[in-house]
Amino acid sequence: MEATRKEVLRFDDLTPYLLLKNGNYLYKVPFRGGWAVLKVYYGSRGLLETWSKSLGNVLFEGQTSYLPKTRRRMERECLALWARHGFRTMRVYDDVEVEAPPSQCPPGGYLLLEYVEAPTLEQYLRDPERPQEEKLSVYERWVAEWSRRHAVAEREREPRLMHENGDAGHVFILEDGGFLWFDFEMVYRSRSKVREYLGHEIIQYLWHLLRNTPPELHEPLLEATVRAYSDRERLAFAPRVFLDPPRLLMRVARGIDARRKRGRKPTSKYNVARRLRAKLEAAGP
Ligand SMILES: Nc1ncnc2c1ncn2[C@@H]1O[C@H](COP(=O)(O)OP(=O)(O)O)[C@@H](O)[C@H]1O
Ligand SMILES: [Mg+2]
Repeated sequence: MEATRKEVLRFDDLTPYLLLKNGNYLYKVPFRGGWAVLKVYYGSRGLLETWSKSLGNVLFEGQTSYLPKTRRRMERECLALWARHGFRTMRVYDDVEVEAPPSQCPPGGYLLLEYVEAPTLEQYLRDPERPQEEKLSVYERWVAEWSRRHAVAEREREPRLMHENGDAGHVFILEDGGFLWFDFEMVYRSRSKVREYLGHEIIQYLWHLLRNTPPELHEPLLEATVRAYSDRERLAFAPRVFLDPPRLLMRVARGIDARRKRGRKPTSKYNVARRLRAKLEAAGP
């Protein structure tokens, strides 16, 4: 039987295509008459940093997700898992092999993704041209999908359905109004702590929103969250993760952190947690 030959995409040098580099390298490359995004997981993290973080993760969290190959695998798994549950993510061209200098793109250390050109939820909410009612209605629609994902994550006890890097900058608004989620590296694994992870995710999203949207939107956004989130109890658990952490060690660490400069800032996650709690209390059970 003849093996099916993979389509090969060859580059002598990826430098001209560099889109951006955070931890990873992202390239926007010509592909099938359009574009694709090549995400290479061997980023700027030095070997020592990678290993020391990995060691910490292995010891304290039982996870090895700082290793590039693991990060890639986790991201690939999440892309498939999210799509399976009906959440839109970028298409992955698994059927294409990229050949480039190994120093830029080691075999098996990358994903080739559909190129998406769309505003992020963050950009949209910041846009001074858009009326506030329209923003809030899009946001509520987004919250409904957000809470649906949380419900599935909890029901399935599936930590990979948490958006660990999640914030409004990691959600595209597509032309048909749908939402596309991306950047799924590094996900914690314990199936018994899903609600806690979701609590983190909730506060992180809101924290990011309050830092990156105009101030007149802050109260309305928090109120819209309480209105549109499908499960009051789960939403109410989120501030508790920060304000009354369930585990003693965590409680001590958080207590110290909250009293330090970072924690006292009006933009801290503690403060976001307090503001959400106040909105929940005002809304009643
Ligand atoms: N498939 C894509 N199409 C268009 N832009 C993308 C795509 N993937 C990533 N980007 C852009 O690159 C940025 C970084 O991608 P991300 O997946 O978040 O990488 P990292 O894990 O390094 O943060 C995104 O915020 C987005 O602007
Ligand atoms: Mg990112």
